[in-house]
Amino acid sequence: MCGIVGYIGHRDAYPIILKGLQRLEYRGYDSAGIALWDGSEIQLCKTKGKVEELKQKCESSATIKGNIGIGHTRWATHGVPNDVNSHPHYSNSGDLVIIHNGIIENYDPLKQELTKRGYTFKSDTDTEVLVNLIEDVKKNEKVKLGKAVQIALNQTVGAYAIAVFDRKKPNEIVVARLGSPLALGVGEDEFFIASDASPFIEFTKNAIYLEDGQMAVVRNHKDLKIWKIKDDSLVAPYIQELQLNLEQIEKGGYDHFMLKEIYEQPDAISDTYRGRMLVNENLIRMAGIDDNIEKFLNAKRIIIVACGTSWHAGLVAEYIFEDIARIPVEVEYASEFRYRNPIINKDDVVIAISQSGETADTMAAINLAKENGAFVFGVCNVVGSSISRETHAGAYTHAGPEIGVASTKAFTTQITVLTLIALRLAKQKGVLSNSQFNEHLRELEQIPEKVKKALESNEHIEVVASKYKDAKNFLYLGRGFNFPVALEGALKLKEISYIHAEGYPAAEMKHGPIALIDSQMPVVVIATRKGHYDKVVSNIEEIKSREGKIIGIVTEGDVEVRKRADYVIEVPETLESLTPLLTTIPLQLLSYHIAVMLDKNVDQPRNLAKSVTVE
Ligand code: F6R
Repeated sequence: MCGIVGYIGHRDAYPIILKGLQRLEYRGYDSAGIALWDGSEIQLCKTKGKVEELKQKCESSATIKGNIGIGHTRWATHGVPNDVNSHPHYSNSGDLVIIHNGIIENYDPLKQELTKRGYTFKSDTDTEVLVNLIEDVKKNEKVKLGKAVQIALNQTVGAYAIAVFDRKKPNEIVVARLGSPLALGVGEDEFFIASDASPFIEFTKNAIYLEDGQMAVVRNHKDLKIWKIKDDSLVAPYIQELQLNLEQIEKGGYDHFMLKEIYEQPDAISDTYRGRMLVNENLIRMAGIDDNIEKFLNAKRIIIVACGTSWHAGLVAEYIFEDIARIPVEVEYASEFRYRNPIINKDDVVIAISQSGETADTMAAINLAKENGAFVFGVCNVVGSSISRETHAGAYTHAGPEIGVASTKAFTTQITVLTLIALRLAKQKGVLSNSQFNEHLRELEQIPEKVKKALESNEHIEVVASKYKDAKNFLYLGRGFNFPVALEGALKLKEISYIHAEGYPAAEMKHGPIALIDSQMPVVVIATRKGHYDKVVSNIEEIKSREGKIIGIVTEGDVEVRKRADYVIEVPETLESLTPLLTTIPLQLLSYHIAVMLDKNVDQPRNLAKSVTVE
């Protein structure tokens, strides 16, 4: 939800900030803007639309130059996406300029108070209220910018990552975070500010991730000070070496990040289990689990909290944990869990799944579980993310950066990690024999090759996509382990092609959705040989007799579905519990091709953002 970038140092800030905004555009693309100090004035350039439009606007007027600046790419919360509501925002005097990712929930009473004191507002944003509050504090209390920001933030309720500078003292930028991510890149006599490390990866490998409730001031010539927003106490900077490299965040010859990320899945899955799964020793080694094994073994149940695609991975995990490790699992939307007064016991283990590690609802669910004494384990992709730091222990998915807004490799690697955990616990509990355990490991080791095989259907899937791209609705059906895959397939299609799609457990169809079926309705049915195959074939008959169009996702060599379906897409055979790792692939490709054929923005679908840091 919004990306922020800043630079202070000896380089020309404009290209750094612009490129940084392009890399952060996955976080929101309703509008974009830049403010630079050119040595005598602030130059501000902002516009509704994408960073490309910002570039054209900035470069069509005077040259925009300077060694200190901030930039923003927006996912609108308060105020429609237009030029005026775009960030950066000035304070009334024009001295202060700010960018903000998050929401100031009490902006309305603050705005009323400031209005009484003579402040006026051009935009509908909460951010413009914040920058004027800072100005008001600075003027009345006669304090420096850092202190004014601190006092103002202590009057706010909400979430923020902000960067602000003062044209009267243009040698420093003040930043702060609570609930939205903020990283500082530490170079030679220069600092970078960003929502994640991607904007500064080619300049420095040294990063500081501010913790929630911390703020900092960065000045020219290596001067950095970090302290707590609440109580002034100083914090020693902890500099981490980044593992990220430039190739990982570029398209590498693919037309879209989404396609690249779909094709990265064989490697991503093996990166996920590498070093953790020792097939010849018949062993799974995962520090986060090994160190807390008693917590898992004593748990009466596991509660999984997540949102969106990660929630779907949680549903797959429910089937896997219960089937393989015989541990009861409940899967909750984090947004519902946090507000419904759930019963949480001290001996519950809560697993929070999040690609970004920043999702506000998932974070709130984690805090609630911790307050109630539960042990909280995180499954995240982004290293150093808030959720990975707030949970008691965890396991990274190691999928590498996922930039396409529609989640692909994060989903399959989440399932891979959760499978490893289930297997590890099953072994410890003795509910799987050594040979069953080994069979699972051997089969999991084959999955990357089998995903490659599934990807070979790409051209055939393009043909299927061209046939159904103009449909107005789609139905996705699956049973057992593949019911959540049906939900995920439907979500992928709707979010990038804007075609309405529903996922259902196949047998539920006759309790309502069957009424939708006619000759215009494509129905994607996951019908692999091991997953209640005969029952699904019967469901296919029911669709066929109502003239629905059937796209079957089947096991290689399938005969029965092929006889009945309009199209089949084959995936290799595997253990039933691992089929989601294969059946997901054609569904990702199908939605991708339909969206491309409909000329939709695959990587940045409308209204969405990669990292949902507001509730
Ligand atoms: C869909 C998608 C979203 C995310 C959801 C949770 O393709 O990406 O549904 O899965 O917003 O995000 P994370 O996993 O970052 O918590």
